[in-house]
Amino acid sequence: MALGLQLRRQVLAGLLLCLCVGRWAEAGKVLVVPMEGSHWLSMREAVRELHARGHQAVVVAPEVNLHIKADDFFTMKTYAIPYTRDEFDSIMKGRPDEFFERARFLTWFLETMATLKNVSLFFARSCEALLYNKDLIRDLNASSFDVVLTDPVYPCGAVLAKYLSIPAVFFLRFLPCDLDVESTACPNPFSYIPRLLTMNSDRMTFFQRVKNMLYPLGLKYICQVSLTPYERMASELLQREVSLVEILASGSVWLFRGDFVMDYPRPIMPNMVFIGGINCANKKPLSQVCTAAFVQSVFPVEHVLFFKKQ
Ligand SMILES: *[C@@H]1O[C@H](CO)[C@@H](O)[C@H](O)[C@H]1NC(C)=O
Ligand SMILES: *[C@@H]1O[C@H](CO)[C@@H](O)[C@H](O)[C@H]1NC(C)=O
Repeated sequence: MALGLQLRRQVLAGLLLCLCVGRWAEAGKVLVVPMEGSHWLSMREAVRELHARGHQAVVVAPEVNLHIKADDFFTMKTYAIPYTRDEFDSIMKGRPDEFFERARFLTWFLETMATLKNVSLFFARSCEALLYNKDLIRDLNASSFDVVLTDPVYPCGAVLAKYLSIPAVFFLRFLPCDLDVESTACPNPFSYIPRLLTMNSDRMTFFQRVKNMLYPLGLKYICQVSLTPYERMASELLQREVSLVEILASGSVWLFRGDFVMDYPRPIMPNMVFIGGINCANKKPLSQVCTAAFVQSVFPVEHVLFFKKQ
């Protein structure tokens, strides 16, 4: 009984301490380095929530971008980039219908790779304009941020965090070429974890396992092309050889915008957190035309009929 009371008193004291220190400990300064396009739309909701909880957020973005616009829940800092809005638009807007085209796999793959290569080149140029902007870097370094929140799909924010020696929190769907699992030293067996684009499930026949091992080789090339500029920049800035895995391994927490409802189960590490629900923060009803086009592009015809009957 006496022990129970004592314990309860200790818990109460602990709670009081948390409450007193809480408000002071909570307010942090967050440097946000978002990724272009739709990636920003879910990150924006996280930044809005950080602001609502008393944190200060500074969002750094290139002058020319798709969706990253100033808002009242963060401070926006933009930097000059070495290309024009027209050049950027023509690369980014590309041909959206390409995705729905039923081209042969190889043609589709090669075209997608070519587009990705072009887009990657723009992102690398934008990142260079940020990392080598002496005034902005001096300003960011002097602001003593507590944490960098960034989408590492193009690891510009990750390099910046390492350069400024600030802990990084990654906010992402996934990384190509298994860079996420490699950087977190997470087990990733070929035998039951389906690889990107293979359409395999977690139960594979022998030949599906062979496919599971071969597909990633094709992607390695595009990772090589699109991600080596970041290794080069990091090595130059830190004045030593730095690998991509080393840059990404410095991530303290990985927030995955995914869920085991959507993906097959797989081993994870303690610093991987699944926050798939955030994608639904801003939901709007889809038009029927859009839903039908999407469903038809993804599922075989019989399945579409099945869907319509329901
Ligand atoms: C890639 O960029 C080059 C030059 O900017 C352009 O000529 C080419 O059509 C682009 N390719 C794709 C697939 O977007
Ligand atoms: C940031 O400031 C610290 C302290 O003044 C300095 O030692 C460090 O080199 C600076 N880092 C960069 C990237 O400028």
